[in-house]
Amino acid sequence: MRPAQRDPLPLATQRLASGATKKGEQMDFDEKIDRRGTNCNKWDHMERVYGVSPDDGIAMWVADSDFRPPACVQRAVQKITDHGVYGYGGDKDAYRQAVCWWMEHRHGWRPEPEMVFATSGLVNAVGLCLHSWSDPGDRVLVMSPHYHAFGRVVRGAQRELVELPLRVENDFDLDVHAWDAMMTGAEKILILCSPHNPTGRVWSRAELMEIADFVRRHDLLLVSDEVHADLIYPGHSHAAMPLVDGVEDRLVVLHSASKPFNLAGAYLGQAIIPDPKLRAVFAKTCLGLGISPNMFGVPMTTAAFSPEGAKWIDAQMDYLDANRAAWEDGINALPGVRAVPLQATYLSWVDFRGTGMTQAEVNGRVYKDARIAAHAGTDFGLGGDGFMRFNIGTQRANITEALSRLHDAFGDLQ
Ligand SMILES: Cc1ncc(COP(=O)(O)O)c(C=O)c1O
Repeated sequence: MRPAQRDPLPLATQRLASGATKKGEQMDFDEKIDRRGTNCNKWDHMERVYGVSPDDGIAMWVADSDFRPPACVQRAVQKITDHGVYGYGGDKDAYRQAVCWWMEHRHGWRPEPEMVFATSGLVNAVGLCLHSWSDPGDRVLVMSPHYHAFGRVVRGAQRELVELPLRVENDFDLDVHAWDAMMTGAEKILILCSPHNPTGRVWSRAELMEIADFVRRHDLLLVSDEVHADLIYPGHSHAAMPLVDGVEDRLVVLHSASKPFNLAGAYLGQAIIPDPKLRAVFAKTCLGLGISPNMFGVPMTTAAFSPEGAKWIDAQMDYLDANRAAWEDGINALPGVRAVPLQATYLSWVDFRGTGMTQAEVNGRVYKDARIAAHAGTDFGLGGDGFMRFNIGTQRANITEALSRLHDAFGDLQ
């Protein structure tokens, strides 16, 4: 790794001046795009999961956005489909270079290409880490509420999931002293979500240092999932974990273009591993499990991590920030309901506890009365009861309609 810059760049300077979108290729985030009937989990399966009909329901659950990616990504796919032969892909040099460029220009640290491993998405990468650095029966830590797939993969790999509670009443800050008391010595890995899904928190440098101390004290491997790091709202600054001292020899950073560029279906993520000994272990796992990325994800990601992609991300953040403001104003106007202030991501964590309703009552009003598919807080483990997670990565018209329906559904509240 090149000498790491010790401070993440302020958001304003993370924005790139160059990389104009080609003439005629406009960014129109308001464009209505009907995703129904495209084998899309979020819109096509909401009836099966929530009983919300796609005929007039609004899908705000699965964490992908409803936007098309930038033109540079579309051109990369078009090049492949125009050629029309779908054999094995070649080397991944350009992809690795693009990842390193992105990290340096957007996050202020520059990995070397050999640190970058391509995986079939980040849930897959978490599974590979579990296989590399723990055994069945070992304890694996997550901070709760937690992204539900972490729990699925940890339990699926027959490791014991240990939920470290965040402090609900303090807008989900750390409680490291309480966590220390929970340790038994059988813990192997902490999966950190930075920024955090589902609460939308960006961890401060001081908080990341506390986490670094915690993993050192308990001799843990730190898997830092930074998939939401490119979706930071103005006024907040994400610090990539490699910029925090003292964890480099126990760190795996997970990152992907899938959330910021809406490429989840390409199933490509990267595990970035600064330490050569850890890299050797991870490489062995990938070899043993026959891991290789699909041929679409590599050029799509390479195209995304470019000046043109950066310009698109900045435009998307401006749009999402206006969604966020409209959403939080509308939600906070409901008596007893509060959106936890969103610092990153398009996943809004909404607190319904002040209504005095049970989770089942809240779910019923959201699914049946408002006809909105959203994740119940209880899907995210400890600290989720009484909350719901809404995906606001959608056209503004959907946000306005969802708010109007929620005001009708909860209109009797005083
Ligand atoms: C923190 C986090 N990690 C990973 C994922 C999924 O990553 P992938 O689709 O690359 O498996 C998500 C999706 O919501 C997420 O929020």
